[in-house]
Amino acid sequence: MRAKSPAATLAVVLAAALAAASAPATAQDAKAGRAKAQACMVCHGQNGISTQPDAPNLAGQPSYYLVAQLKAYQSGERRHEVMSMMAKTLSAEDVANVAAWFASIKVEAHLPK
Ligand code: HEC
Repeated sequence: MRAKSPAATLAVVLAAALAAASAPATAQDAKAGRAKAQACMVCHGQNGISTQPDAPNLAGQPSYYLVAQLKAYQSGERRHEVMSMMAKTLSAEDVANVAAWFASIKVEAHLPK
């Protein structure tokens, strides 16, 4: 059998990692996430559309992305005065749940006329 190229091996490893990441160990509970997200709404808005100019919209973002950012704030890989603190108030389960909640909000985009 011919050995696979390093690139092919990397692709397989990445695919497996992504599959694992999209099926988190903690089940996502958007309803519990909604309750937890009360603490986020002052900046990120009641509906996930931010009320502060420096806070990004969270509504409709993929939960994979939201989980990655919250974990990055928790680990210190991503730093922000407020968010580094906010993220540390969340358990791994809370992170999965708030991500599921914001991801479940439907957003529409309209191009300017
Ligand atoms: C006091 C205001 C404030 C509160 C409260 C707050 N955030 Fe944030 N959040 C911000 C700001 C400002 C940023 C942008 C930070 C940066 O530049 O890294 C941000 C960024 C984020 C991001 C990264 C988004 C992206 O597009 O990269 C996530 C995810 C997030 N917040 C989730 C939450 C969650 C979940 C809560 C509640 C537990 C919360 N935030 C509470 C102000 C806030």
